[in-house]
Amino acid sequence: MEPYRIKVVEPIPVTTREQRQAALARVHHNLFDLRADEVTVDLLTDSGTGALSAAQLAAAMDGDESYAGSRSFHRFHDTVRELTGYPHILPVHQGRAAERLLTATLLGPGKLFLSNTHFDTLRANVALCGGEAWDLPCPEAADLDSAEPFKGNIDTTRLKAVLDGPDGARVGAVIMTLTNNGGGGQPVSMANLTLTSALCREHGVPLILDAARFAENAWLVTQREPAHREHSPRQVAEAAFRLADGCVMSAKKDGIAHIGGFLGLHDTELARRCELLLIATEGFPTYGGLAGRDLDMVARGLHEVTDPRYLRARAEDTAYLADLVRAAGVDIVEPPGLHALYLNAGRLLPHIPPHRFPGQALACRLYLEGGIRGVELGSLYLGTEDEQGAPLTSAPYELLRLAIPRRTYTRGHFDHVGRALARVARDAHLVPGLRITEQPAFLRQFRSRLAPV
Ligand code: F0G
Repeated sequence: MEPYRIKVVEPIPVTTREQRQAALARVHHNLFDLRADEVTVDLLTDSGTGALSAAQLAAAMDGDESYAGSRSFHRFHDTVRELTGYPHILPVHQGRAAERLLTATLLGPGKLFLSNTHFDTLRANVALCGGEAWDLPCPEAADLDSAEPFKGNIDTTRLKAVLDGPDGARVGAVIMTLTNNGGGGQPVSMANLTLTSALCREHGVPLILDAARFAENAWLVTQREPAHREHSPRQVAEAAFRLADGCVMSAKKDGIAHIGGFLGLHDTELARRCELLLIATEGFPTYGGLAGRDLDMVARGLHEVTDPRYLRARAEDTAYLADLVRAAGVDIVEPPGLHALYLNAGRLLPHIPPHRFPGQALACRLYLEGGIRGVELGSLYLGTEDEQGAPLTSAPYELLRLAIPRRTYTRGHFDHVGRALARVARDAHLVPGLRITEQPAFLRQFRSRLAPV
């Protein structure tokens, strides 16, 4: 059971089917353009959407808003330092700011980042710095249905081949995303991280963790990797950070905060260069674009997030929703992790081809049915067409992600999702595909307009 009870509640909007139908038309079937008060259960993201604890709110009241050297910074710094072991800790307003500092400093034309899977914003930051982002997911990741425990692993055979090969000299860093959000929220094993760390050290290449969900990864390691069964999530997390040379962190996930992040580094010279960029673009190094109260809430959240009782309850909540989704007749990327379920929309809607966007079609239908918002991870996100609209490339899978905000929704809300999804799945053959009527030059999943076909 959850190791907490509810002290403060927020009403959620309840809408009629007619209102939702009108809203879908108004936003041109792009759910990012809905007003939040048109959404009943918002599973768009687990980022910055969690519930704060009483202790976090109390810490916020004690926030020190001094411009330089605030008490809040020192509390934040000591917490992050103790968790990660990195001597240089730069606060930033959110994860992608840490990514920008790192890519701007480590990359340049012709340089490469290698990863189990780059998250979108990191991939965009690599491209903006003239670099290339190569994903090397392990072969097990390709089978969505298998129960393999660590489908978030990097393919160490390919990693070694790249590092040993002609492109080895171009590699600026290896990034391990914990858990692998772009790859179904799957965890990385400590064995895989240890081997990756050894390969990186051997080749003199920095290993950086994208640690947004480090605690969830650590929990899954304690559950799925026999060598770590007796360890606490905190012990696993501390060990993971110490296998790497640094981290980029979005505290909006496993900091259980509404905003915040940090860059942690071992290398003094690299940290110095990042710090100058931080001052120019984010803020002085003792606040990095955050208020003192934010730093205190993140520090507190980083302690709470590795509590095994919290992590177990979160895992059980996700497993509960996974059972409802399977019972509705909808396949998910197996086995489920903690932060989200990835629904196999392509399989549920075989009558909709990739370029009629089954994931987005399912997202819109689930919104119409129950006011539930998820996010497409399929060909709307990854596909391309030529100027006439003829398909060029499509995504490997057509998925709909239902992300689960931390400590926010109850099983009653999940039951509502399960019932709505069961109704959608029963009449799946009636769900229409969508065509793009307008799209921007890039990042089209956020700004496209669509219409049913
Ligand atoms: N890394 C990972 C693995 C992420 O999932 C995200 C954000 C970021 C970095 C960027 O952090 O948003 O604080 O700048 N993921 C959100 C999501 C947006 O919905 O999965 P940010």
